[in-house]
Amino acid sequence: MNYHDEWMQVEVRRIRDLTPTVREFELVYPERQAAAPGSHVNVRVTIDGQPDKRSYSVVSGSEDAIVTIAVKLLAESRGGSRFMWTLEPRMRLHATKPHSDFELSRGAPHYLLLAGGIGVTPIVAMARALNQLGASVRMLYAARSRNELAYAEELGNILGARVTVFPADEGKMVDIAAEVSALPAEGELYMCGPIGLLDAVRQEWALQKRALSKLRFETFGSSGHHAATSFLVKIPRLNLEVVVAEDRSMLDALTSAGVGVLSECRRGECGLCAMDVLSVDGEIDHRDVFFSGEQRAHNKKVCACVSRVAGGTIVIEPAFRGDPDFGRIEILSDCGLRQCVYPSHLP
Ligand code: FES
Repeated sequence: MNYHDEWMQVEVRRIRDLTPTVREFELVYPERQAAAPGSHVNVRVTIDGQPDKRSYSVVSGSEDAIVTIAVKLLAESRGGSRFMWTLEPRMRLHATKPHSDFELSRGAPHYLLLAGGIGVTPIVAMARALNQLGASVRMLYAARSRNELAYAEELGNILGARVTVFPADEGKMVDIAAEVSALPAEGELYMCGPIGLLDAVRQEWALQKRALSKLRFETFGSSGHHAATSFLVKIPRLNLEVVVAEDRSMLDALTSAGVGVLSECRRGECGLCAMDVLSVDGEIDHRDVFFSGEQRAHNKKVCACVSRVAGGTIVIEPAFRGDPDFGRIEILSDCGLRQCVYPSHLP
């Protein structure tokens, strides 16, 4: 289910390998697209012969209807990146117009940008926009190794000495506590990267009692605290047991088994796919950014689109109900506004 997708046919114009595992695609739309920094597009993919969709951040949009995205070929791919890497120039596919859930403010006294791995994609657009605005900005860019730093040259051209890279295999790590502490009180931090990095930033942000409104983030649902393994889902009400393979999401496995599940972002952001956890044998690998750290620690809810179980079985009730503990959820309306609703109020 989706509330704001508008699909159109696009053509792959140019493909460029940025690193051994990151490939850039230029998509030509039938008309000019406005792509604000932080936008993403959904792309229709085919996985094991079945249609599906994946969401990719826009690296750049241009006046002549070209939208550029970049896709990392994941070892633990659920099929989306594998499909994207089969594309060739002049092939056609369906994609949505760029849509922004990760908006860049204007007028902050200072911006700190933090990218981890392929999380660099929305951050490149932000760096470009902030530089054009003449804003005070610094960027920190972490990756496993120097040859995995996609867009490092472009970022160097945009930001010069204001970008610092942290290749982990050279022993370089971002000092999150020091960076958050050095940020002026009204400064804003924009972050996109794996869930472990995001959790560390959110924890430090809370520890230093920074305003929540000044931290904006996005992650990719493919990253977790544990490697993806297969696990079993039991639904007593339906007398159903479903095996979730290591390369599938719980949401997809349940949907294939005929369980009706609401979903929207499929990136662990909107909370629409959240389900009640009745019990768990093993550890829930929460990969969403919808629930707070405290809520995730309680293990009462799980976002089926991204979260998994490490080595065990989970017993769930899939019918999510808005409740006082977890309150309302946000969806994006057709006009692009965030709406706060209870699932029972959804059309
Ligand atoms: S569909 Fe949005 S969090 Fe799962």
